[in-house]
Amino acid sequence: MTSLYAVLGQPVAHSRSPRIHSLFAAQVGAQLRYEAIEVAPERLAETLTALYAAGYAGFNLTLPHKTAAVALCESLGTRAEHAGAVNTLIRTPGGWRGDNTDGVGLVRDLRHNLGVAIAGRRVLVLGAGGAARGILEPLLAERPQELVLSGRNPWKPEELATAFKALGNIRPCTHLALKGDQFDLIVNATSAGHHGQAPRLPPGLFAAGALAYDLNYGKAAAPFLEWARGAGAERVADGLGMLVEQAAESFQLWRGVRPETGPVLAALRQD
Ligand code: ATR
Repeated sequence: MTSLYAVLGQPVAHSRSPRIHSLFAAQVGAQLRYEAIEVAPERLAETLTALYAAGYAGFNLTLPHKTAAVALCESLGTRAEHAGAVNTLIRTPGGWRGDNTDGVGLVRDLRHNLGVAIAGRRVLVLGAGGAARGILEPLLAERPQELVLSGRNPWKPEELATAFKALGNIRPCTHLALKGDQFDLIVNATSAGHHGQAPRLPPGLFAAGALAYDLNYGKAAAPFLEWARGAGAERVADGLGMLVEQAAESFQLWRGVRPETGPVLAALRQD
C-alpha cells in the first residue's frame, strides 16, 4: 500500500521537499507519495484532523506553521519541546507526534557535508526568532567554546539565552556590541534575506578559516552570503544541505531507515 506524506505550508509551491522525498523513496524502494499542500494558518487544526482521518502517515511543516503546530500535537519529542517548534509530524494511534529535525539537520550538514567541527569553536547565531530557537539545542550539544546569540535589540537574544543556558555556554549580544569579537562559524538565522537584506554587522567578525552559513537557500541566502564574502569569510554555504539532512531525519522517523543524502544533495544542486 502506498503511504501518504506531505509538506504543509503557505506558500508551499516552491518547496523542494517533494523532490527530496521522492528521491529518498526511489533510493530505498519505499512505496510512498509525498505532496505539497497549501494550508492557511487558521485552517491548520482542521486540516491535520482531516488528513489524519484520510490516513496520512506523516508531515513536514514549514512557514508559518512550525510554532502553532506544537499545541496540536498529541505528544512531543524533547527537541521539539526545547525548540518550541515542530517540523515533523508522525502518525501515532492517538494522534500526531511532533518532532524537530532542523537543528540535527544543520549539525549533520556542517559535520558530514562541509567537514566543519563545532566542538571548541566560537559560534555566532544571528537572529533570535523561531529559526534560531530550532537550532540552539543541537548546536550547544556539540560543545562550542562559546555560542553568541545576537539580534538588533538585546531583548530577544536575552530571553532565548536564558531559556537555553542550562544546555551550554550561550551569551546574548546585540549586533553592534559584537565589534571586536571573532568567530569560526557565523550562522544567519534572521529572516532579513527574505526581504533582500543582510543583517547590519560590524566588520572583522570572521576568524581565519571561518565559515558563513545561511539557514536559507536560493535567493534568500544571497544577501548574507554576499556580505560574508566581502567581509572576509573564507567559506560560505547556503542551507540546501540542511534541508536535505533534516528531510533524511524526518524520513528515518517515519520509515525507520535513513536514506543517503549525498546523491540527493548533488541532484538538487543540478536542478
Ligand atoms: P523566524 O521565526 O523564521 O526565525 P522571524 O522571527 O520573523 O523568523 O525573524 C527572525 C529574526 O530575524 C528576528 O528575530 C529578527 O531578529 P532581531 O529582531 O532579534 O534582530 C531578524 N530580522 C528580521 N528582519 C531583519 C533585518 N532586516 N535585519 C536584521 N535582522 C532581521
